[in-house]
Amino acid sequence: MSGFNETQKEILRLKAEKNALILAHFYQPIEVQDVADHVCDSFEMAKRARDADQNIVVICGVVFMAESAKILNPGKKILLPVTDAGCPMADMVKPEDVVKLRKEYPDAAVVCYVNSSAAVKAVSDICCTSSSALRIVKSLPEKKIIFIPDKNLGAYVAKKVPEKKFILFNGFCPTHNRISESDILKAKAAHPESVFAAHPECREEVLKHADFIGSTAEILDFARKTPSETIIIGTEMGVAERLKRELPNKKIYTVAASFVCPNMKKTGLGELLNCLKTEKTEIKLSPEEIAAAKASLDRMVSI
Ligand code: 13P
Ligand code: SF4
Repeated sequence: MSGFNETQKEILRLKAEKNALILAHFYQPIEVQDVADHVCDSFEMAKRARDADQNIVVICGVVFMAESAKILNPGKKILLPVTDAGCPMADMVKPEDVVKLRKEYPDAAVVCYVNSSAAVKAVSDICCTSSSALRIVKSLPEKKIIFIPDKNLGAYVAKKVPEKKFILFNGFCPTHNRISESDILKAKAAHPESVFAAHPECREEVLKHADFIGSTAEILDFARKTPSETIIIGTEMGVAERLKRELPNKKIYTVAASFVCPNMKKTGLGELLNCLKTEKTEIKLSPEEIAAAKASLDRMVSI
């Protein structure tokens, strides 16, 4: 266990003793990523949680990720180290909003970004992540798509699938939506030799300057493969931090100085250690809630 600090060693000891699986998102602090069994984008996290055979699955991420893990693998103890690590975008849409839209557009399919509550998933037809949204929308027979809650991801997909009509909900990720066209223009001017890789939660005015658009895992992959030695990263700084360490010969920049999801950064090593010690907080959903939300998530992971 060389290279780990004392807290990390204790986390790894407890993890083995309790037969726990630790899944961390790329936006987690790098020292938390380092003790995880897998560091993933939202799609891989959902699949790994579904397939886990350990007794305990610890989700180092935000509430909707832990809820999705519980829905996909309800027999396991799913732990979230920080109970109030929510996602503001997920909180922007309520089941009543979806029910209302369904009444207005009865022939549309409801595609729900996985950044949403279990109750919203329950009234949707299928979930998607940023890496699967395009594939999922194309796979549906419906010509009309109600896309919730992220208007930016929805607009990005809509542009790629012009043969379908999109009804976009007015939600957004405050962390990505804050980035403006002038931020990317300034970053490009400072590094004219760079390529720009962006997350589709960014606004259209930002995405139009991107050389590559994809999920966190896809951005990492692009950065590894591009022959360009200077890359501007258009997503939360956890991705850039990981790349700086992994690719020391490349120059990695974030599009804006502070590109942070405060909720993702609530989980530190202390919180993770405490979670493993106390086995808190366990995600509890009723069998009815699980059953209602399961169909849309199952459809997503099976496509
Ligand atoms: P992905 O890791 O699936 O790209 O998701 C980004 C995100 O904002 C998660 O909250
Ligand atoms: Fe939610 Fe945005 Fe944070 Fe992801 S980065 S958890 S979408 S607020």
